[in-house]
Formats: sequence, C-alpha cells, structure tokens
Amino acid sequence: MSILTKTRLQQTLKTRFIGRSVVEIHDRIDSTNLRARELGLANAETGTLIIGETQTAGRGRLGRTWHSPPGRNLYFSILLPALDPPERSPLVTLAAGLGAADAVRRCSGLMPAIKWPNDLLLDNLKLAGILTEMESFGSEAPFLILGIGLNVNLKREDLPPELTQRACSLHMASGRIWDRTTILAAVLEEVEKNYTALAAGDTDSVLARYRRSCATLGAWVRVDAGTSIIEGKAVTIDERGRLVVERRDGEQTAVDSGEVTLGRRNPESQ
Ligand code: BTN
Repeated sequence: MSILTKTRLQQTLKTRFIGRSVVEIHDRIDSTNLRARELGLANAETGTLIIGETQTAGRGRLGRTWHSPPGRNLYFSILLPALDPPERSPLVTLAAGLGAADAVRRCSGLMPAIKWPNDLLLDNLKLAGILTEMESFGSEAPFLILGIGLNVNLKREDLPPELTQRACSLHMASGRIWDRTTILAAVLEEVEKNYTALAAGDTDSVLARYRRSCATLGAWVRVDAGTSIIEGKAVTIDERGRLVVERRDGEQTAVDSGEVTLGRRNPESQ
C-alpha cells in the first residue's frame, strides 16, 4: 500500500492553482473539510489542499458520516473563492462531480454515473461523494470548501455491514489496484478546469456537459428535499444547478438540494 506524498503529487500534478500553494497531508484527521475551513478563516491561499489518509469524523451530505478507512481511498478538501455572486456557488458542486467523473473515466476507463447533485455511482453503488460548504461570515471574502471522498482501493471487507450493498470502489469494480496519486491529480485538474470556467462566467458549457453526464435526467424520481417530497420526471437542471422535476399534473418544481431515489413511473402519464 503506497502512501500519498507531497513530492509525488507535485511531480504528477498539472494544475495552475489547486495544490500549488498549501498542501497538507495528514496521516489521521477529524475531517479535511474542517481543517480547510480553519485555514480559510485564516485567509489561506486559493487552491489550498488538505488530504487525509484517514478521517475520524468524515462528514457527508445531509448530516451523514463518511466512512474513511486508512490508506486505500482519497479524502481531500480544496479551498476556493465563492463564485460571484455567491448564490452561483452551488454550481461548483455540480462542476466538481462532473470533473471527478471525467477524471475517473480518463484514468480507469470505468464510467461512473452522476446522480444529481454529485454522487458518483458504479452499478448503482456509491463510488464518490462531494460535500461543498460555503463560509461567508468571519472571513474577508466568502469562500468554498470543496470536499471529495473517492473510494479507490477499498475492499469489500473494509466496509461495515450497512454499507456493503451501498458502496463500491474502483478496485471492487475492476479487480485492480489503482495509483491514488494519478487519480487525485486527474480529479484536481478536471475540477480546476470546470471551476475556472464557472469563475469566468461560463455557466452554459459546464452545465451542458453536466446535463449530458447526469444519469438522473429523464428518470422518474422521488426527491426528499427535507421539508417536502417531490415525485415526478427529472426534466432538466436549471441555470442555478437545481433539479427540475415535472409532476404528473405537469407542474414543475426546481429543487435546490435533497436525496434522489428512483421513483415509480405512473403508466398513465406521459
Ligand atoms: C456525500 O455525502 O456524498 C459527501 C461525502 C463527502 C466526503 C468528503 S471526504 C473529504 C471531505 N471531508 C469530509 O469530512 N467530507 C468530505
């Protein structure tokens, strides 16, 4: 099992600013997102990269935990300025999911599906997740913490029983052991490319590519949006990155965030 090192990463990385200034690699950390937030509040540079070999309090979306066993996977967080205006920032989450999926395809040939907003799935099992957090108070300028967890060489026996039917890894899908540095560098490159496009105001091309890759579109879905459940057909992703769901009566609802499961199609409609 090879460990991640700064030297190897710097030799492999072709980014302009992500991972080019502050790079911390922790053998063990509570959560890379928490550390990145701390550094962001201390005005650390754009592109600061925090990596953990294992996380003791890895955090997932919707208040969940992120299982982070040591040495096999990638857990990292990147510090980025919020988009202008900051309300556009949820687009970064989609752009990161797209970038991670493209990087996995490029490195491994495996084709992860993107489930809105940014879960990467292989055969319906979760390969990667992204947690983006925005900090707009207590700092000079609003910033984003983009946290990515990607299961690389995870083995089935590393998983607790409740995750064996829900999670997978590149190794589990291919039988091969993958070089984590190569994959990390590719993800950082793709994320930087997409973030740069968004920061330059080019929402359209990023969203067009995202829509083409998002497996949720066209499906009948049930979205648990926290305070409400919306069922219908996922018809598009709007310019704010929201999932637009068309109910049976034709009414469309744009959902900001939530958990999507495949819904039951009503045979009488459409
Ligand atoms: C999800 O629930 O799908 C999002 C999971 C995000 C996990 C990553 S691992 C690196 C970073 N640090 C954290 O505590 N969470 C994110």
